Amino acid sequence: MTMHKEFKRIAVFTSGGDAPGMNAAIRAVTRAGLANNFEIYGIKRGFQGMIEDDFFANMKANDVSGIMQQGGTFLQTARSEDFRTYEGREKAFRNLQKHEIDAVIVIGGDGSFTGALIFSQEFDVPFIGIPGTIDNDMYGTDYTIGYDTALNTVMQAVDKIKDTAQSHGRIFFIEVMGHEAGALALKAGVACGAEVTFIPEVQDEEKDLEIFLAEDYKTKKRSGIIMVAEGDRPGGALELANKVQKEYPEIGVRVSILGHMQRGGSPTVTDRVAATQMGVAAIDALLDDQKNIMVGLHNEKIVRVPLSKVVKLNRSFDDNLLYIQKLINSAY
Ligand code: F6P
Repeated sequence: MTMHKEFKRIAVFTSGGDAPGMNAAIRAVTRAGLANNFEIYGIKRGFQGMIEDDFFANMKANDVSGIMQQGGTFLQTARSEDFRTYEGREKAFRNLQKHEIDAVIVIGGDGSFTGALIFSQEFDVPFIGIPGTIDNDMYGTDYTIGYDTALNTVMQAVDKIKDTAQSHGRIFFIEVMGHEAGALALKAGVACGAEVTFIPEVQDEEKDLEIFLAEDYKTKKRSGIIMVAEGDRPGGALELANKVQKEYPEIGVRVSILGHMQRGGSPTVTDRVAATQMGVAAIDALLDDQKNIMVGLHNEKIVRVPLSKVVKLNRSFDDNLLYIQKLINSAY
């Protein structure tokens, strides 16, 4: 056990959209921190709680017992408008000073890391980021907490929809979360045998849909699953389905918007373990005098990536999965 020379008290919080596995990350940060003789403070409701002085002082190992299997985040989260203002950030800084916080661990997505970076440049607060979002859209890590659970939730929902789609010979347009990223829609689409997946990163899916509707639907399939990432187009799956229904009035078209059920549920093994690894890695990073970095996973190993890079660069999507989906659907 070590006692770090500079840091004594560390705060941890969750921010932005919640994701299953965030609790496992809070638990790992708390316990790895305590094991290294840090004092751990939780901040409730993200940056908003930091501004409003909503702190959970001196968390102990028992305070994070029994939370790992629960979805959501027991510290709660928020998308804070106040933190976008300098006045809000100043208040937040005063509260960190009041509680004598030496470093902060933020569990969240791109938006949260951008806020952390601005804050740290203004007030010199050291941050460590842990990637948590069901979107899996962050640069520098293969994996974000919550993605695997959300994938499984989507898969289970689509499997059920497929039963009724096949019974009635209908085409279902299924809208999946992901305002700027198609990772969730694409991978779940491969897992569910979707005919076509619409994602924001690609523009030519209408051609594939046309081929499916004009040829495959009539000749071999007679039902279909079309996945649509919510960020693919304004109007989402509903607008696309309406357009298709107008062109093909004889086809039974239905829409299912999966919505926020994708953000809930008990985390999978993958999410619990990844969150635990990254939580411990965040404490390790502080012990190594790191600041303003994200801990992530690359090829199943922990990596450290500067927050400035994470927020600036875009993650490339898995075009191999897209190729696989097209290939599988081109077979006769
Ligand atoms: O970033 C995660 C995410 O779930 C996106 O996929 C979705 O577009 C967004 O959050 C919805 O956020 P909220 O429900 O907080 O408005």
